[in-house]
Amino acid sequence: MKGVILAGGTGSRLFPLTKITNKHLLPVYDKPMIFYPLECLVRAGIQDILIVTGGRHAGDFLKLLGNGREFGLKHINYTYQEGEGGIAEALSLAEYFAAGERICVVLGDNLIEKSIGRAVRDFEQQPSGAKILLKKVPDPERFGVPVFERDRIVRIEEKPQVPKSPYAVTGIYFYDSQVFEIIKTLEPSERGELEITDVNNWYIARGEMTWHELEGWWTDAGTFNSLLKASNLVAKTGANNP
Ligand code: G1P
Repeated sequence: MKGVILAGGTGSRLFPLTKITNKHLLPVYDKPMIFYPLECLVRAGIQDILIVTGGRHAGDFLKLLGNGREFGLKHINYTYQEGEGGIAEALSLAEYFAAGERICVVLGDNLIEKSIGRAVRDFEQQPSGAKILLKKVPDPERFGVPVFERDRIVRIEEKPQVPKSPYAVTGIYFYDSQVFEIIKTLEPSERGELEITDVNNWYIARGEMTWHELEGWWTDAGTFNSLLKASNLVAKTGANNP
């Protein structure tokens, strides 16, 4: 399985912090944010990794990460997203890199306490389709929220005013090679982006989506509050623990 980290966007919710750098290069406790999704993949045994970034500070990723020797990697792949087309559009740039293999996609501002090793192994055994990781949160309206019928997800609602479950769809996704064909069929949402939630709903509609509840804490770090929370959580327990 290959890994893809999505680290583009303008980070407008963190202005003025992101006026002169990319969100994913900001500090979370003692490391730049991008270190956490990278360690998450490496510790789950994924060695072939693509970073999708964009904007005016894309060159700084190369300065910071180089070929990933610090992470035990021989090589890191990079690609550049022009403009602001959303998560699914950023992911479409990974088609050539994936070359028909399965991928684990991590949003560059998502941090977790524990390893995703088990989910990686489970998805390797899954005949086809996709897998998402869920986490119970106090504020699901900020995220993609699964709607359940018993223990089956029937759809995901993106940032619903009235969430139908207490779960967030975290920014860690597993896809088979169909994902790139699905993205080509998407239309931009109201916020003008190709939504990852539409990709996930496609798999759900075909009965090809599995899910797994994450152990340990999970947080994004794309707002002032969540960035502070992420630093405090990392200071307390560390991230990507076994
Ligand atoms: C994105 C997804 C959302 C998901 C979240 C996880 O939201 O659209 O479904 O729950 O990432 O971090 P965004 O950060 O683009 O608002």
